Amino acid sequence: MKIARFSRIGFILAAAGSAVGLGNIWKFPYITGEYGGGAFVFVYLLTVLFIGFSIMIAEMLIGYIGRKDTVSSFESIAPTHKHLWKYGGFQGLAGLFIMIFYSVVIGWIFHYIITSLSTLPASIKEAESTFNTMLHTDIWTQLFYHSVAFVWITYVLTKGIKGGIEKMNLVLMPALMVILVGMFIYALSLDAFPKAVHFMFAPDWSKINSEAFVVAVGHAFFTLSLGMGAIMTYAASLEKNSNIVKAAFWVVFLDTTIAIVAGLMLFTFLYQYGAGPAKGPGLVFISLPAAFYEMGIIGNAFAVLFFIALAFAGLTSSVSLVEPMVQYFIDRFSWSRLKASILMGLFFYLIGIIALLSNIDGFKEALTWGDKNFFDWVDYFTAAIMLPIGGLIMALFVGFVIDKRKVESILKPQLGFAFEAWYFSLRYITPVAMFIVMLNLLGVF
Ligand code: PHE
Repeated sequence: MKIARFSRIGFILAAAGSAVGLGNIWKFPYITGEYGGGAFVFVYLLTVLFIGFSIMIAEMLIGYIGRKDTVSSFESIAPTHKHLWKYGGFQGLAGLFIMIFYSVVIGWIFHYIITSLSTLPASIKEAESTFNTMLHTDIWTQLFYHSVAFVWITYVLTKGIKGGIEKMNLVLMPALMVILVGMFIYALSLDAFPKAVHFMFAPDWSKINSEAFVVAVGHAFFTLSLGMGAIMTYAASLEKNSNIVKAAFWVVFLDTTIAIVAGLMLFTFLYQYGAGPAKGPGLVFISLPAAFYEMGIIGNAFAVLFFIALAFAGLTSSVSLVEPMVQYFIDRFSWSRLKASILMGLFFYLIGIIALLSNIDGFKEALTWGDKNFFDWVDYFTAAIMLPIGGLIMALFVGFVIDKRKVESILKPQLGFAFEAWYFSLRYITPVAMFIVMLNLLGVF
């Protein structure tokens, strides 16, 4: 069978498409808001540089050497205990689990694209009630758009690496960047821009505590798509003799730049027209539409464009969340791509309906355990447990299990004198950081 491979730019855009997602445009601004701005951004940038970048290279390396689905890659590369190491590859399941709520959120975004065409909420109060009404009562709207997301994502996956994933990223990623940069340039002209810069870059160290550190590490992982085999699966389709370090650099660079550009743009609009920065998860669904309303008719255009960009970011991440398991069933069970894509799609779609219902009044009660409903549990379980475990396994695998000479022979020419620093960070800094994050998120301290 001829294996389809990414073109060089196709790989970078697809991996960046995976990385740039709801995490950058929806989550990063609101956690920055919650943890006090500049100091948090500083810690986050350090984490991306020293932990995220290291694991990105490691994850790409496993895929690049293994050339197959994540389970087969671990199995074939491990020098001993292959039957145990192969479980490292089941991290791919995390992606399917993330999709359970990710697809529902993409559905909300679709809904907001359509409603922003005609109406925006006239106040924060109204915005809040619009959002909450949708979230807690409107089953059919959410179900409809969740279904649209499912069909779109599954269709792209059936078309494969070249004709589906690469093609979609080649169109949507540049479109997303044009929209964001366009809105950013507009934001530059507003009086509130310096305020946004100050908020995002002037550090207030009193706001930094251990929790902020943990959130920063966790977010660096999530936003760079690390720890669950998405990047690994894409890297399995890299051309031989590709420069992994360069590709990893570009992905990290694009992801970080887009998060910062999106953050500056959002905070400018919020300072100029809205109610200031810290508004939690509802930031883009509540505060932002209300700020756009103040801009008049151009606000509608901005809102529509913004939600389109957000949808694009979410969709390109989604295909990368499902592809590892699709690839797994193709490689290990000789399923056709069509069958694997549809069954994986149905998995997140159907369980996604339960996640959706767990926000709805009347169903909520039956679908809530402890302090979280099903939707929040899936989010928590993947972010707090699965991704850090995945990252830890990958760091240990590349740092201690694969023969150093092999790692060196591929990466030394690309990393040069930085090789030893990278290797050290992978062996010691990253595992310790991952461990601390996990303990914290599990509530140990
Ligand atoms: N990086 C994506 C985001 O920022 C989410 C994601 C996580 C995608 C893990 C793939 C793997 O939204």
